[in-house]
Amino acid sequence: MKRVAILISGGGSNMVRLVQDMQSGDHPARPVLVASNDPAAAGLAKAAALGVPTAAVDHRAYRGDRAAFEAALLEPLLDARPDILCLAGFMRILTPGFINRFDSRMINIHPSLLPKYPGLHTHARAITAGDAEAGATVHEVTTELDSGPILGQIRVPIKAGDTPDRLAARVLEREHRLYPLILRRFAAGIRDRVDL
Ligand code: GAR
Repeated sequence: MKRVAILISGGGSNMVRLVQDMQSGDHPARPVLVASNDPAAAGLAKAAALGVPTAAVDHRAYRGDRAAFEAALLEPLLDARPDILCLAGFMRILTPGFINRFDSRMINIHPSLLPKYPGLHTHARAITAGDAEAGATVHEVTTELDSGPILGQIRVPIKAGDTPDRLAARVLEREHRLYPLILRRFAAGIRDRVDL
């Protein structure tokens, strides 16, 4: 049984779907920790309500010293001995030093059809560019931002009059189907790409 830790920064709706799927039985992994860089992240209470241990390390206490923040974040993480680390709406950039500790064991969900639109404001950029579709990607995390091998994607048409928020809500619904499926496969050692 693989041990999974999840990093979040906000509402944690993807995290909830990952935890619920792991807790549904017949799953090759189980959740051992949900950690956040924001002690006020709403997802922390949701994780606790699901019976998952939580930790918070406030990045603002480290005043831009990423290495010190990551060292503090590593403490609860290493205690939890995860085999897999999932980023689920985690909004801090991680340094290569941190990423290399979880080499080939860290996955992320990003709200764009990578390699298009790494970074922030993905839905606004897709709408401004006049794209016909947007989506989300689950990928392995490497030291280059939002650029690791793609494990799966969902695609969503962009409708006339879409705002970034409306598009984000439609993409998020599909993220909730994509991420649990990919974690299930990843935990079973399957890394072939899936397009839902
Ligand atoms: C999701 O849409 C996720 O793809 C995105 O943040 C949202 C988190 O929602 N992630 C990123 O932008 C990572 N750069 P959630 O907290 O409800 O899962």
